[in-house]
Amino acid sequence: MKKPSDHEATREQLRQSIIGLGERSIRKSYYPELQQRIAELERSNRELQEEIAERIEAQASAKKLAQQLQQSQKMEAIGTLAGGIAHDFNNILSAIIGYTELAQLHMITGCDRKQCPAAGDLDRVLFASERAKELVRQILTFSRQQDYERSPLQLNQVVTDALGLLRSSLPQSMEIRTKFDTDDTLILGNATQIHQIVMNLGTNAKHALGKSGGVLAVEINRIEIEPIDAKSKNLQLAPGPYLLLKFCDNGCGMERAMLDRIFDPYFTTKPKDQGTGMGLAVVHGIVKSHGGLITVYSEPGKGTSFLMYFPQLVDLPAEQSLTFSRKIPTGTERILLVDDEALIAQMQGRVLESLGYTVTVETDPLQALETFSAGPSAYDLIITDMTMPRMNGADLTQRILRIQADIPVILCTGFSELINESKARAIGVKSFAMKPLVRKTIAEIVRKALES
Ligand SMILES: Nc1ncnc2c1ncn2[C@@H]1O[C@H](COP(=O)(O)OP(=O)(O)OP(=O)(O)O)[C@@H](O)[C@H]1O
Ligand SMILES: [Mg+2]
Repeated sequence: MKKPSDHEATREQLRQSIIGLGERSIRKSYYPELQQRIAELERSNRELQEEIAERIEAQASAKKLAQQLQQSQKMEAIGTLAGGIAHDFNNILSAIIGYTELAQLHMITGCDRKQCPAAGDLDRVLFASERAKELVRQILTFSRQQDYERSPLQLNQVVTDALGLLRSSLPQSMEIRTKFDTDDTLILGNATQIHQIVMNLGTNAKHALGKSGGVLAVEINRIEIEPIDAKSKNLQLAPGPYLLLKFCDNGCGMERAMLDRIFDPYFTTKPKDQGTGMGLAVVHGIVKSHGGLITVYSEPGKGTSFLMYFPQLVDLPAEQSLTFSRKIPTGTERILLVDDEALIAQMQGRVLESLGYTVTVETDPLQALETFSAGPSAYDLIITDMTMPRMNGADLTQRILRIQADIPVILCTGFSELINESKARAIGVKSFAMKPLVRKTIAEIVRKALES
């Protein structure tokens, strides 16, 4: 007979073997399942963390986009307003410049310049008008309502030339360091406007560096914006190759609140004789009109960097830029001139007559159409204003070309959102001219249209 302790030992052995069996069976059958569940949990945890990070990034990017949108809407509104004022101002200037030039013509033929003080006064009127014209041009550049001729140019070369010119106006304490990473820097651009960018940014850096001086680093790199590149979303740029032009100074820098306003026209912190506040507004307009983008980074005491993206030109356009001769060309052809503003129509008529042409002036486009259809062979050229009541210049052109397809037409405009040079050419206009036109420019455009 077994002792009670023997029974206990046997029971303990059994218990152990059952536990062993249980563990083995867990290991055998449940363990892989458990492992799988743990792995799944770990994976979904990782995915959750990634999603949280993505959402945080998306929120930041949405905020940045909203800021950019607000900024571009503000610039758009200011641009429209400024463009409208510039339009009216251009018309007034056209009359001032035109009549002054006519008065000068009479002076030269009619009286001795030395004995006639009015001759000098008229020079001053023209000089002041030129300055006003320049201002209007700047406003139109900012509001991107002025068409500038663009031709293929090497950004490296134009920036180097402009920096050379800038150097003479900078103090010795200011150092310019250039670093151009590529030789292939072709863009479709306007060299005068690129000069303007360099001058504006260079002068701003000079002021930011102050008397103690410092470094202005100017760099050009080639970058590619990929379609999937998140950058292209934040930068609001179409995918493709770009040239990135950087201007970085280690000057005084700016506060965040100021950065929001620096591209506004007439925003300046400088004394009256040092700045008008148009510099960066113009730079902004120029970069935008080149199909590019400008951004700025700055911190107080740490300096400022302006980054400008210009689309790189890969295919050369066939069209060549206009070239004008130096002498004022004249002619004896017959011109039909249409402008609803009587003052400007008469002035332009007289300017054209002073160049030798026979001019018929019309201030009503419908009447002009009647005059032309009554005798198309009586005219060699049509010059028409774009913005007119009842029928605009583009419509008038189309009606005239239906009567006589080969008559050259010049379309003049101070400002118009309805038309630009390529649209004008598409409807058959030979030349497209922006007002105000000085005598020499009218003479050249007329001659070119007649000879083409
Ligand atoms: N590199 C810079 N560092 C620090 N502040 C700058 C810099 N560039 C511009 N600013 C600030 O932005 C303002 C606006 O610049 P913007 O070039 O438009 O006008 P401006 O230089 O004041 O006058 P303008 O260029 O018409 O002569 C400046 O007055 C200045 O306060
Ligand atoms: Mg400036």
